[in-house]
Amino acid sequence: MGINIALDGPSGAGKSTISKIIAKKLGYIYVDTGAMYRSIALFAMDKGVSTTSAQQIIPLLKDIEIELKYVDDVQHIFLNNEDVSEKIRQNEVSMHASNVSAIKEVREFLFNLQRDMAKKNNIIMDGRDIGTVVLPDADVKIYLTASADDRAKRRYNELLEKGQAVSYDDLLNQINERDFNDTNREIAPLKQADDAVLVDTTGFELQKSVEVIYSIICDKINNTNKVNDKKKSLSPLRILFYQIIRGLVILVYSIAFNLKVVGKENIPKKGGNIVASNHRTYQDPILLSFPVKIPFSYMAKEELFKNKAFSALIKAFGAFPVRRGSGDMAVIDESVKRLNKGYNLIIFPEGTRSMDGTVGKGKTGVALIAAMAQVPVIPVGISFRGKLKFRSKIVINFGKPILPQELEIKSQSPKELKVLKLKIMQSITDLVDLNV
Ligand code: DC
Repeated sequence: MGINIALDGPSGAGKSTISKIIAKKLGYIYVDTGAMYRSIALFAMDKGVSTTSAQQIIPLLKDIEIELKYVDDVQHIFLNNEDVSEKIRQNEVSMHASNVSAIKEVREFLFNLQRDMAKKNNIIMDGRDIGTVVLPDADVKIYLTASADDRAKRRYNELLEKGQAVSYDDLLNQINERDFNDTNREIAPLKQADDAVLVDTTGFELQKSVEVIYSIICDKINNTNKVNDKKKSLSPLRILFYQIIRGLVILVYSIAFNLKVVGKENIPKKGGNIVASNHRTYQDPILLSFPVKIPFSYMAKEELFKNKAFSALIKAFGAFPVRRGSGDMAVIDESVKRLNKGYNLIIFPEGTRSMDGTVGKGKTGVALIAAMAQVPVIPVGISFRGKLKFRSKIVINFGKPILPQELEIKSQSPKELKVLKLKIMQSITDLVDLNV
């Protein structure tokens, strides 16, 4: 079973526009179930059959074959091998789609097709009954709504853009009528699943709606077992050893400094993540370990491994050597290996410490490792004033994970990696507070 995201809600709430954008960001398949009902309605309309008559519609089903195909990442719907993606969007099809969707046999006919797609793929599926009936075990369920007035306005503008002339009042009436039909029909009526997150986008611009929904989805799938189970776990003994040392260090540091950790909820429960932080002091790896229960691994400059005893000590705490400024590919491979083993990998993308607290430009290595390992990057800002002294206030601010899927890195080209690096550096900069 892939990761399934169910997005339900009334007509015109923006489900399909938002789902398409998010599916692209995540690299998931978008399944527009409304398009399936629309296709059946179109078939019935072409045959001159009443869409409110179950008796007339049911016999047609055996002659209908619906397929979703993806052309340049865009979903096209085929009705008996004809691409009807455009035709089904005509305004008059909407009400007929609502009519056929109230017929039990039509729903059963589409149910298997929808379930099948969800079984095989990571999908985002939108409709009316996805979270309640089609995918009751979906990993993420969202119920998207907006006022009827807002939805009519959006639909009005959309149709105007397509050159379809409609009256606003007619649209509002249609929306209200479809809402009534979809909510009050006997089978699989439109309703919010008990475990769905309600998002009301009244007054939102599209971008804001996308941001809100995307963030809900990322939070949920990042903690879903399907994602986490793919990550290997370190041995319990290794974790115990780390926990004991970590406890002792926390004790000492809490006496020496005034520590504040922000954003603990952004730290995934399982390991295998990159923690990308600004670099202020040699103590940064220790500071970062306070709220993270999974052992870290991190690169340290080669010179530090010269002394055998010290080398053994830092190795025991996850350090591995990097030759600075040499474009060392072995270190990239080692980083990916450690992430795959289940370690969290600390990276200081600036490469060197910042004495005044300002965040430097950052190197692309962090982006390359993230792209190769396809793991979340958790940006962190470490802030304190001046030099560290006894009882200095230190704020360690963990930001929202940047998911590899979100980064849309496909080819690891220098251009893509730069975009990713800039995003990571910006997030780190936003988390640093020079006035703590
Ligand atoms: O989302 P849409 O406007 O394209 O959907 C067209 C109609 O299909 C809508 O009025 C209700 C119905 N529908 C449904 O009953 N169940 C779904 N999962 C999707 C759509």
